[in-house]
Amino acid sequence: MRFALNIDHIATLRNARGETLPDPVAAALLAEQAGIDGIVVHLREDRRHINERDVRLLRELITTKLDLEMAATDEIIKIACDVGPELATIVPEKRLELTTEGGINVIDNISHLKDTIHILHKHDIEVSLFIEPEIEQIDASTEINSDFIEIHTGAFANALSEEEQIDELEKIRLAARHAKKLGLGVNAGHGLNYQNMKIFRDLTDIDEVSIGHAVLARAVLTGLDKAVKDMFSIISGK
Ligand code: PXP
Repeated sequence: MRFALNIDHIATLRNARGETLPDPVAAALLAEQAGIDGIVVHLREDRRHINERDVRLLRELITTKLDLEMAATDEIIKIACDVGPELATIVPEKRLELTTEGGINVIDNISHLKDTIHILHKHDIEVSLFIEPEIEQIDASTEINSDFIEIHTGAFANALSEEEQIDELEKIRLAARHAKKLGLGVNAGHGLNYQNMKIFRDLTDIDEVSIGHAVLARAVLTGLDKAVKDMFSIISGK
């Protein structure tokens, strides 16, 4: 299981003072030194954290891979095609949400998403769709030539009892299995942390996890290098 770090909230902290520090680009380079497999950023319509300068500098400087989380809007698609991340992860986006609240409904947006994937593919950008662990959403994702799915792990992360958590984990396991059989790459993320990763790591069909908040929250206290390495040791069970 690979581990990609979402660095949006380094930019949230920077923007809180309207100044230049901490710089998410510096954080990305440090995370790479700590062994991270990829850098994830979400360029939101309202630019509340990551901005265009960050994305362009990251593209120039990082040596792992860039996963650009984005809404499928004309403005952001144009930027993505210009910047050329290795992967574009399409997410639904609401202005008032604190964080991405759920997966995209591929079935309801099939024609627009198909066109979006076509455009991104023309620019040699692979595409991932952030979806709930539901078979119909996975089938629809393959139908429109998505390369990856990213399974929304929010319900698992927010489960209130152990029983509910096991149920949600099982849904993710079955969804990941199904997606793999269809030839999709399978990523997962949202709310994964140092506790729930101890059971999540058993899901062998998940290629990569995308984690932000838990790792950056720990990094504030222990340093980014240690926070990244601590998560790696849980993922690998060592
Ligand atoms: N994957 C997607 C699509 C997300 O929107 C987010 C949140 O930015 C994450 C993963 C990471 O979630 P968290 O910050 O809770 O680890």
